[in-house]
Amino acid sequence: MNKYPKSVGRQSLVVSRKNKKDRRDGIIDRNDIISDHQRRPTTDDRRILVTGGAGYIGSHTIHYLISQGVKPESIIVLDNLVYGHRKLLPSEIKFIEGDLLDRKKIDQIFKNNQIEAVFHFAAYNIVSDSMKDPGKYFYNVTGTVNLLEAMVRGDCKKLIFSSTAAIYGFPKKMPIDEDTEILPTNPYGESKFQAEKILEWYSKIYGIKSIRLRYFNAAGADFGIGELHDPETHLIPLVLKTILGGGKQISVFGRDYPTADGTCIRDYIHVSDLAKAHYLALGKLSEKNFQSDYYNLGTGRGISVQEIIDLCQKVSGQKIGIKYTNRRPGDPPILVSSSKKAERELDWQAEHNIEDIIKSAFLWHQKCSR
Ligand SMILES: NC(=O)c1ccc[n+]([C@@H]2O[C@H](COP(=O)([O-])OP(=O)(O)OC[C@H]3O[C@@H](n4cnc5c(N)ncnc54)[C@H](O)[C@@H]3O)[C@@H](O)[C@H]2O)c1
Repeated sequence: MNKYPKSVGRQSLVVSRKNKKDRRDGIIDRNDIISDHQRRPTTDDRRILVTGGAGYIGSHTIHYLISQGVKPESIIVLDNLVYGHRKLLPSEIKFIEGDLLDRKKIDQIFKNNQIEAVFHFAAYNIVSDSMKDPGKYFYNVTGTVNLLEAMVRGDCKKLIFSSTAAIYGFPKKMPIDEDTEILPTNPYGESKFQAEKILEWYSKIYGIKSIRLRYFNAAGADFGIGELHDPETHLIPLVLKTILGGGKQISVFGRDYPTADGTCIRDYIHVSDLAKAHYLALGKLSEKNFQSDYYNLGTGRGISVQEIIDLCQKVSGQKIGIKYTNRRPGDPPILVSSSKKAERELDWQAEHNIEDIIKSAFLWHQKCSR
């Protein structure tokens, strides 16, 4: 597992700290990443705002940024802690408990700090819940507008947005690339798509450059932290928690899909690979002529529910029972990403495979269960 190194350098927000692997592969060109920071007069005041930074992907991204040389003191997290946990965050960062619906609070953050860029993770994000309580999900859109308005007033021009494969609905053609028709089938996906459209307008009207990252299924753990959702709705933590909690069986919804073993296929992406994409996106936003864009993030490899359960059993060395039940309404048989655009334009590549994902998640859940 990676460990984030101590903060280095005092002069800039981002310093030349690349991990060994990146240096070896030449994946990251420091000048690409931080050219804009370097061109501007260097001050110690510039900050990165991370909304929803106490959540799963946000906290991993913060640890990743620090591992790449971003100074912890330059990071501000805004999170209402509805799903987030302060303990996932390094103690040196500034944490503000607050909600994106609190416009005064957001304005205050931009007033009191020189925010250079925003990573916007904060959102309610449970698909099934969005079918029961859609209003909550459309407030995600309101929160995004509040954030954008504060960015306009605070003259902040860079935003990286957490979007989702759910905006595509149930496409027939696999893998799913960015040209796939957008047809969300639940309020969660719809709310993310609405937010994406709004970002386009703020880009055109106010010059706020944004990158929308459309994640597939985030999973895995790194930096000594991991997934801590309550309620947990994601397959890998559910299986591992069942195994570690001595639970007898896990439910599998549908065994009659048109796939090799009859269970649904999804594309699981390691959370640190997602974190790295955010880091690269920050560099992309700093390129002189870059406007705004969007990228799918997955591995391009589909894994079935049955294969996930088998791998979790293999990694843990323990067996669980499987209860096969009816399909859940609205579960598409296969969702697999094409991430070629991100590979080409962000110089990004998923480095972790499904074994890495499950091993890292198992270690994390094992630690939590002790
Ligand atoms: N986990 C996935 O597989 C996945 C896939 C696609 C997209 N996404 C998106 O990525 C983002 C992060 O996902 P995650 O899995 O880390 O979720 P998470 O629930 O762990 O993190 C979201 C964080 O946002 C906070 N939050 C929610 N609403 C807020 C508000 N109004 N104001 C302030 N804070 C608020 C929560 O407390 C939480 O800490 C979300 O926007 C989600 O929609 C996640």
